[in-house]
Amino acid sequence: MARRAKITGTGMYVPERVVTNEDLAKLMDTSDEWIRQRSGIAERRHIEPGQTPSDLALAASRRALDAAGLDASDIDCIVLATLSPEADFPGTSFFLQDKLEAGDTPCFDLRAQCSGFGYALSVAKSFIEAGQFRRILLLGCEVHSTGLDFTDAGRDVAVLFGDGAGAVVLEANEDASDTSALLEIRLHAQGKFAKKLWVEAPGSGIAPARMTHELIDQGRHFPHMQGKFVFKNAVTRMPEVLIEALNATSLKLDDVDLFLFHQANLRINDYVAQQLEIPPEKCLNNIQRYGNCSAASIPILLDEAVREGQLERGQVVAMTTFGSGFSWSCAVARY
Ligand code: ACO
Repeated sequence: MARRAKITGTGMYVPERVVTNEDLAKLMDTSDEWIRQRSGIAERRHIEPGQTPSDLALAASRRALDAAGLDASDIDCIVLATLSPEADFPGTSFFLQDKLEAGDTPCFDLRAQCSGFGYALSVAKSFIEAGQFRRILLLGCEVHSTGLDFTDAGRDVAVLFGDGAGAVVLEANEDASDTSALLEIRLHAQGKFAKKLWVEAPGSGIAPARMTHELIDQGRHFPHMQGKFVFKNAVTRMPEVLIEALNATSLKLDDVDLFLFHQANLRINDYVAQQLEIPPEKCLNNIQRYGNCSAASIPILLDEAVREGQLERGQVVAMTTFGSGFSWSCAVARY
């Protein structure tokens, strides 16, 4: 029996501090109506001063480890997907590994922006199927709030993003009678559109110094996005990769019990579901409460689905992403 990778635990954590659309309207020229209408978002969470990404990741990890019935010492490797690392280097995973008291367990950050969790799932699946590791702690973790422009100049992006972390424990499954497995993961990228949604600075591509007062004055340390262009690509690529991943299995759209789409914009997800004639009750969204948590969106959504009984053992879940890079992915799993 081939070794397969099974999800054995999920967890999530978002900061306590709720930031509503009205709160943002006090800082910039925006409104609850505009934000809800364009994106579906009503509120998001922001960290309190002193809280760090690895704090969020730690809380999500503990919940996922508890659900799997494991201790941090049982884990063979930690993979953390993020676009907002705790420091320029090392990655957030190293701060998390220390807080978990995980000894000398290997860990690393993976950077594929909003598709980071899809890419991380693929890496972990390969590690397990190849026999390199048996138990992997996988995270998506973002703190966006410390990197956004909360003035009128940044309003198109700042209203969309939130902070949070989601975690999954993946374990080797060699039990032939247990059908739970990551079945198929498809990954894509298109670097020619890297600058359609990016944060330029600090960047080692900027000489002679990656961060200067001038760069800050020009706002080049904030995310910049061509929203409509990103939107058009997202609604094309997400259905494409979802069908591609399903075609690589013996499953059809109707066989999927639950669709989890990256939480960038409710309109994107409604449009994708409509195009594919997916019934709304098979799609779960939480962008209304958390905004776009980039790499953390899918694992947060997955944990909520499991804890609220919307995904049960034996059911099929399809997790589809699109984000900066551009990068897009779809993972199909039997939970
Ligand atoms: N409040 C009020 N008005 C605003 C705001 C705001 N927060 N932001 C922009 N506006 C204004 C614009 O200035 C513009 O005004 P103008 O017509 O006078 O020039 C007007 O609203 C319309 O702006 P549009 O950009 O046309 O709005 P659109 O309908 O395209 O919605 C949005 C914008 C929500 C950003 C949308 O384009 C979108 O969701 N894009 C995709 C986002 C995404 O998928 N990101 C990928 C994942 S993120 C990652 O990978 C890191």
